Amino acid sequence: MKRIKIFDTTLRDGEQSPGCSMNLSEKIEMARQLEKLGVDIIEAGFAIASPMDHKSVQSIAAAVNNCTVASLARCTRGDIDAAWDAVKEAKHPRIHVFLATSDIHMEYKLQMTREQVLSRISEMVAYAKSLCEDIEFSAEDASRSDWAFLARCYSNAVAAGATTLNVPDTVGYSTPQEMGELITYLRANVTGIENVDISVHCHNDLGMAVANSLACIKAGATQVECTVNGIGERAGNASLEELVMALHTRPGYYEAETGINTRQIYRSSKLLSNITGVPIPPSKAIVGANAFAHESGIHQHGVLANALTYEIMNSADVGVPQNTMVLGKHSGKHALRDKLISMGYELDDQELEAVFTRFKVMADKKKNITRKDIEALVLHRRNVTIGSCRLMSHVVNTGAGVPNTSFIRLQREEDVLEDVAIGSGPLDASFKAINRMLGVDVRLDSFSLNAVTDGEDAIGEAVVKLSTPEGETYTGTGLSTDIIESSIRAYVNGINKMMEANA
Ligand code: KIV
Ligand code: ZN
Repeated sequence: MKRIKIFDTTLRDGEQSPGCSMNLSEKIEMARQLEKLGVDIIEAGFAIASPMDHKSVQSIAAAVNNCTVASLARCTRGDIDAAWDAVKEAKHPRIHVFLATSDIHMEYKLQMTREQVLSRISEMVAYAKSLCEDIEFSAEDASRSDWAFLARCYSNAVAAGATTLNVPDTVGYSTPQEMGELITYLRANVTGIENVDISVHCHNDLGMAVANSLACIKAGATQVECTVNGIGERAGNASLEELVMALHTRPGYYEAETGINTRQIYRSSKLLSNITGVPIPPSKAIVGANAFAHESGIHQHGVLANALTYEIMNSADVGVPQNTMVLGKHSGKHALRDKLISMGYELDDQELEAVFTRFKVMADKKKNITRKDIEALVLHRRNVTIGSCRLMSHVVNTGAGVPNTSFIRLQREEDVLEDVAIGSGPLDASFKAINRMLGVDVRLDSFSLNAVTDGEDAIGEAVVKLSTPEGETYTGTGLSTDIIESSIRAYVNGINKMMEANA
């Protein structure tokens, strides 16, 4: 079996996608989950992009032990210095340098000749190598580059010390056959390629990112770049869960394996969706709500007779929690802790206390607490940070033909704040009251509500996207069996993140 390295770029390429930005503590939480998932490399960000990006990469480098931590850098000294400064304290640091090699990028974006590109690669890869042992070189837009020229670029990178050569299909233009042939060509024409890892980085513009990456593995690639839930620029990157499960389900065909703990896949996917507020489409392969659901009678009958008739994977292998009743009103903290451990969540005492308090509130309203309810409680535990506001109580008056009013009481450290406002609906009135009492100027860009579980006492998860006049955007999430309460909680959560970022 060939061992394939999983290079996760959720926190870099993924975070570049609209609506997917994360704050520092969210990135660290996601990085720790990626470490549990067992990815080999975490691309933590693009250190030169902003002081906040630099800080995030640096903090992730300090937070994880078992993965290599990489920062992206263009082929300039300033970028490489910033990348090295951000990753140098990591147990396993990597600098990832890139330069475009297609004619169209060289002419219109870089305004560089082929010869200039070749010598810049040699010079900058060598410079990066003088700082860090582990160097990845990416030829941006490789799949639309001239193959012979591309081979010269990669040969220069290897000669200058690159340890991984990454072949991006930057605009998602290639087909699986073409990508496979390109890898075969490079293996035959790049000097020294047998001593380095061959990586691929495929975008999903034509819906072929995973198929393209798998074709490259068949042709000899040893690393794949991907993101959780396939998030990323435009139509996204190759989805980590689809790649990993394809290799896991078809070992005889791919003769390849990864170091991923597949039971952490579902949790990673949910965490990302919870942090970004971007829902997982129901029919998304591997992690969508319908991925393991059999609706038609013929299928159900087949599965009951023998699961292998229609199931090629077991949902438990991906870590999908079964939606059965597990705890109730009389369950204590120990039972909750045991259940959390069996679901793969290890919380410290303070976190457990916070989840337990909310579990008790939920158990008062909801008879049967399922694994999905518990999972939602855990995913929402991040709301409490120093200086943040907490919803204490609310009273909403709503109806047709009457003014909608909302009274909100919040606690911020020792202070209790309250206000009442009129709005066009119960949520508008609530959000206005919050804005006024906190003196904030934010716009509600979008709002969504999803049921976490089925049934009349289902808990609702609200997601709000907020923006400031300066154009910063924040995502807030909130949870409750009462949908107005979950919406107010989501709004307060979004504002807490805004205040944290500007503290
Ligand atoms: O898509 C791309 O080409 C990239 C590179 C920077 C690797 O993200
Ligand atoms: Zn990319």
